Amino acid sequence: MSNDGVNAGRRRFLVAATSVVGAAGAVGAAVPFVGSWFPSAKAKAAGAPVKVNISKIEPGQQMVAEWRGQPVFIVRRTEEILANLKKIEPSMSDPASEASVQPEYVDPHVRSIKPEIVILVGLCTHLGCSPSFRPEVAPADLGPDWVGGYFCPCHGSRYDLAGRVYKAQPAPLNLPVPPHAYESDNVVIIGVDQENA
Ligand code: FES
Repeated sequence: MSNDGVNAGRRRFLVAATSVVGAAGAVGAAVPFVGSWFPSAKAKAAGAPVKVNISKIEPGQQMVAEWRGQPVFIVRRTEEILANLKKIEPSMSDPASEASVQPEYVDPHVRSIKPEIVILVGLCTHLGCSPSFRPEVAPADLGPDWVGGYFCPCHGSRYDLAGRVYKAQPAPLNLPVPPHAYESDNVVIIGVDQENA
């Protein structure tokens, strides 16, 4: 018998065995699952898209929204911040966000739809702490090369103001960019893709 034959036979057996276990499991667990078929209003709200008015964010400042129980950082970037993003690119671990999480309609370098507004899930990609917003240039604790970014208080990962992680940090990837879409100039919906808005 060829290897193919053996594998096919074994696969058939495994499928049959799994189906039996699956059926028994389904009967035993039918009652507890009922609750999860009808999610509560609270659960629905927790996963729902969130509308945020961004008109009050001053240039160079951030507001924090909440989506799916996670902090979402929204920053209005200045021309100077955008110029610095380009300058520090060689120090970034994944400058074009090839391995990082973001929707395909955001620019992979500045990581936004509009250059001036960046929207990031505010959880460190190392172990999930929330990084601090540190927009100042060259503060004593972050050193003379710091041009503004995020600093994770847990194990010291550093990110720029596009959420891109610097090289040689505990965090492996850039901060994720959540799906989002503009309803108007000042209202952004987080949790909905641009084309579905
Ligand atoms: S959780 Fe941010 S550096 Fe570890």
